[in-house]
Amino acid sequence: MNWSGRKVFVTGGAGFLGSNLCHALVARGARVTALDGFLFGGGANPRNLDGAELEFVRGDIREIDLRPLCEGAEVIFNLAAQTSHMGGQADPLADIAVNAVAQVRLIQAAREAAPDAIVVHASTRQFYGRVEKLPVDESQPVAPPDANGVSKFAGEQYWMLEHRVRNRPVVSLRLTNCYGPRLRIRDARQTFLGIWIRCVLESRPFEVWGGAQLRDLTYVDDVTDAFLAAAENPACHGGIYNIGGAPPASLQELADIVVRLSGGTGQYTTREFPADRARIDIGSYHANDTAFRKASGWAPATSLEDGIGRTLEWYRTRLADYL
Ligand SMILES: NC(=O)c1ccc[n+]([C@@H]2O[C@H](COP(=O)([O-])OP(=O)(O)OC[C@H]3O[C@@H](n4cnc5c(N)ncnc54)[C@H](O)[C@@H]3O)[C@@H](O)[C@H]2O)c1
Repeated sequence: MNWSGRKVFVTGGAGFLGSNLCHALVARGARVTALDGFLFGGGANPRNLDGAELEFVRGDIREIDLRPLCEGAEVIFNLAAQTSHMGGQADPLADIAVNAVAQVRLIQAAREAAPDAIVVHASTRQFYGRVEKLPVDESQPVAPPDANGVSKFAGEQYWMLEHRVRNRPVVSLRLTNCYGPRLRIRDARQTFLGIWIRCVLESRPFEVWGGAQLRDLTYVDDVTDAFLAAAENPACHGGIYNIGGAPPASLQELADIVVRLSGGTGQYTTREFPADRARIDIGSYHANDTAFRKASGWAPATSLEDGIGRTLEWYRTRLADYL
């Protein structure tokens, strides 16, 4: 698809994944409107959109009139979400208000203002819960381990309903843990890797909880490419797809890579998984993303070493902006 001149609407555009996607779209010549409410505890950072020529609107998808933002959009990339698992447990009403109720608001606005727009929705592997069998394909039963998993599943299903009932081209991408530049690194709210990176750059030891759990981290450029490919390939429209990343590695192996690439400032301690989090922890996960690869031609291209190395480099000169 030639993105030049196309009108695109991105929700959650100042967050980690949304801002990286915005930069990629602007670089391809798209006319981008980005919406973000800078929700407390999320990944929004004003610096994330530095240098991107786009229309930025600060507003909350629960309240703002979404019709003018959707108006004329050919593609909507829908990434706004309450993403904190502990946050969702603490305040499930706020969680479902963003991840499900506001999705219905956006669906209604898009019906009026962008009836033909392709929608790529950011979904999550979280609601598969603790799985018995790896790797996980899309036929895995859904068993959300927390309130955030329930609300994200509901939001996805409202969008897929819009595909079935109105024939809107919708693609839902169930992402695994993503990392890279513009990640929230102030704390561990976005991923454990965020706080690890902060600690390394501050020459402090980081903590590995457990260590044997497997993860298939996706580097953010590969995530961006997956979003673009999902929009571009009609064969994907109407589908729900798992998105994986690098070959699975244990947290301990990941920690060792971080230390190796840290330039001498990385060290870690290992401790047991905290009891309050263990109840909502999903254990090991890695995706079978063959279906998306076949439908779109996409494949993750970034090794863990390259991705972690690039991420550390990126933050070295920008640490203060992300604390
Ligand atoms: N990063 C990951 O590892 C990962 C994994 C699985 C799924 N996802 C999904 O990808 C999407 C993007 O995640 P991210 O990692 O970039 O998180 P993020 O927190 O960096 O981005 C989400 C953005 O949405 C904004 N937002 C939240 N509620 C809003 C509201 N009511 N109104 C307007 N803006 C609002 C936040 O301010 C934030 O900037 C989310 O839907 C998330 O569930 C991410």
